[in-house]
Amino acid sequence: MASTTLPQHGPSRAGDIQSESGNPHWVRYPGDAALDAIPGEDGWPIVGTTLMQLADPDGFARRMVATYGPVYRTRSFGQRGVDLVGPDANELLLFDRDRLFSSEQGWGPLLNLLFPRGLMLIDHEAHRIDRRALSVAFKPEPMKAYCDLLNRDIASGMDSWGNGAQRFPLRLYDAIKALTLQTAATSFLGIPLGPEADRLNHAFTAMVQAAVAPIRRPLPFTAMGRGVAGRRMMVEWFTRLLDERRANPGQDMFSQFALARREDGTLLPADVVVDHMIFLLMAAHDTITSSFTTLIWQLARDQDWQERLRAEALAVGAAGQPVAHADLARMELTDLAFKEALRLMPPVPALPRRALRDFTFRGHRIPAGTTVGINPALVHVDPALWPRPDTFDPMRFTADKVAARHKYAWVPFGGGAHMCLGLHFATMQTRILAHHILTRYRISAAPGYAPRWQAWPIPRPRDGLRLEMWRIC
Ligand code: HEM
Repeated sequence: MASTTLPQHGPSRAGDIQSESGNPHWVRYPGDAALDAIPGEDGWPIVGTTLMQLADPDGFARRMVATYGPVYRTRSFGQRGVDLVGPDANELLLFDRDRLFSSEQGWGPLLNLLFPRGLMLIDHEAHRIDRRALSVAFKPEPMKAYCDLLNRDIASGMDSWGNGAQRFPLRLYDAIKALTLQTAATSFLGIPLGPEADRLNHAFTAMVQAAVAPIRRPLPFTAMGRGVAGRRMMVEWFTRLLDERRANPGQDMFSQFALARREDGTLLPADVVVDHMIFLLMAAHDTITSSFTTLIWQLARDQDWQERLRAEALAVGAAGQPVAHADLARMELTDLAFKEALRLMPPVPALPRRALRDFTFRGHRIPAGTTVGINPALVHVDPALWPRPDTFDPMRFTADKVAARHKYAWVPFGGGAHMCLGLHFATMQTRILAHHILTRYRISAAPGYAPRWQAWPIPRPRDGLRLEMWRIC
């Protein structure tokens, strides 16, 4: 039986890579034959089902469920794996009552090269201890401080859109991505906008691109080469900043991490703080950009809901005014609409784990060492759970409707021990963004405009989402 004692932290030097072979607890792949009994497909020679999954993850998963049922076998990145689809599968894997699964070994092959030792890359007791220590950064006092910074930077960023024109076209995704990078510099890192923040953003963007690059070795002139160089630069820069923050903390999240203590009273080691912070930037950035873009796209198509949210935004503050932390809870309709956007296009559409022990699900025996995935994106549009699943209807999230549904039918933030640590931060930033954009601009899309979305790794409109902005204040 596979061990369930999970590893402590791996290597720490800049540019170091924690590989599967560096982890003594890595559970061995059971071999192709061990999965023969699971229905599914091996795809094409060498590439397996990988290309089909990458080209159209949603269509592929739908076809597999229709053909083989909610438990099916695939062959991607050179190995067979199993996908489980349904709210019960989400619960099994996320709640993980019996500690059957490793998040580290699920995400590791994708993220360990660039984001080693982030919270999703550690398991069980080591994970619990660090997660608890980092939670101080999300308590009410620091959240109020981030709220002030976000209000200030989002307001000034949005004011500059369109150079003061009354009406202008905007690639909304690109504009929000730039804005969230800028706000990350101030609220996460406590550094002013300027050349230093630009350099960091550049390095960070190279890392994110490398995480999904097909060539996995850091060779010169490859995305992975640039990503590893970006990581080295960020590790050096954060390590220098850490001493400064410990001596003279600010109101930013990095200062909170710098002073975070484990249960035994010790500060988190410097290299651990640095890795957690780099991982957090990655976890926060594209997810907020993607989900807020989906929300605004839905509001551009549904002017009625846009007006309702605008009225709510104006009720908590006029255009140009910050929304106070205490008033965020009054933006209830915005919250429902955001949940609906996360249902329609969850930024993390599928989640991997590896089985640490043999288990049985819906009559299928799945051996230890198997990579097991769930597919929240598909469950979020299952007509058995969501009538008219393609319609934008925020009222699906009223308390009575939520209570009547399976608890794991909607899991954009995951669940259980690894549930998104930044959930409240994401909700707060979205409300602030919604307040500032809706009180300043009326937003529409050209008739018949139907942007194509790239589904993987994080959904985004391929053309940046071309919208029409009308200044209203
Ligand atoms: C709409 C925005 C976001 C979505 C949809 C989202 C989604 C998720 C999901 C699905 C997971 C769990 C992955 C798994 O179990 O395998 C996760 C984990 C995490 N997220 Fe988020 N996230 C968002 C924003 C943020 C933000 C803003 C932050 C930080 C400020 C953040 C920090 C984290 C961290 C640190 C983890 C790892 C937690 C752990 O393993 O204990 N996320 N997120």
